[in-house]
Amino acid sequence: AAFLEDVKIIENICLGSRYYLLKVKSEKIIKEIKAGQFCMIKPLDNALILRRPISIHNIDKENGVLEFYYETVGKGTKELSTLKAGDIINIQGPLGEGFSINIKDKKIAIIGGGMGIAPLKELIKQVNKENKVVFIAGGRDKYAFEILKNINFKNTIVVSDDGSIGEKKNTVEKLKEILEKENINMIFTCGPHIMMEKVAEVAHKNNIYCEVSLEERMGCGTGACMGCSIETTKGMKKVCKDGPVFNSKEVIK
Ligand code: FES
Repeated sequence: AAFLEDVKIIENICLGSRYYLLKVKSEKIIKEIKAGQFCMIKPLDNALILRRPISIHNIDKENGVLEFYYETVGKGTKELSTLKAGDIINIQGPLGEGFSINIKDKKIAIIGGGMGIAPLKELIKQVNKENKVVFIAGGRDKYAFEILKNINFKNTIVVSDDGSIGEKKNTVEKLKEILEKENINMIFTCGPHIMMEKVAEVAHKNNIYCEVSLEERMGCGTGACMGCSIETTKGMKKVCKDGPVFNSKEVIK
């Protein structure tokens, strides 16, 4: 079930450029939310500003804190970035279907591109307990990598298109390189659609189970607007309700 919860902001800090890390204290949503799911966040009590979908970045159950990593792209997220510790916001969640996290004894590659890195922290935390995980992070904008300081996972390989951080290589090339050396049997990916398409293509070719997170295609977030409908091998599906995480074979040919 999804809840509406008024939550207090603990921290809302800029990590550089347009990238922000938001921490809120939650009692209800934190009990249910899982890696890959998201919340609809309402910055202010202002009817003109719509709720924005933001994926969960980290679930700190011990301290009752939910973390969201977001980029200021429009009115709503800009408004959100002006809020300070102590302010109250209303969030709705958990929403959508997340990643498959109840898995054991797999060798997993997790591939994040740009802002797609954000929802992967909680996933890495969860699956790393019982599996061997390698995380490939890539992108163009160096500020998007600031989040890696907050992920701090030892098995992380950083690549960038221009070589400004990590190795100069794209994530898909790096994945192929790893597949030559390691017997990966599961892949998770989140990032630009074109990157996920290529990752899925590599996965399908190698017969590897793959999940993709299509969250960039969302509107209302709750199944009401139909704006996120996509064609899948199992008929029309809503990204916000049936996803954002899908088996790659259902959504990418
Ligand atoms: Fe409105 Fe999915 S975003 S139905």
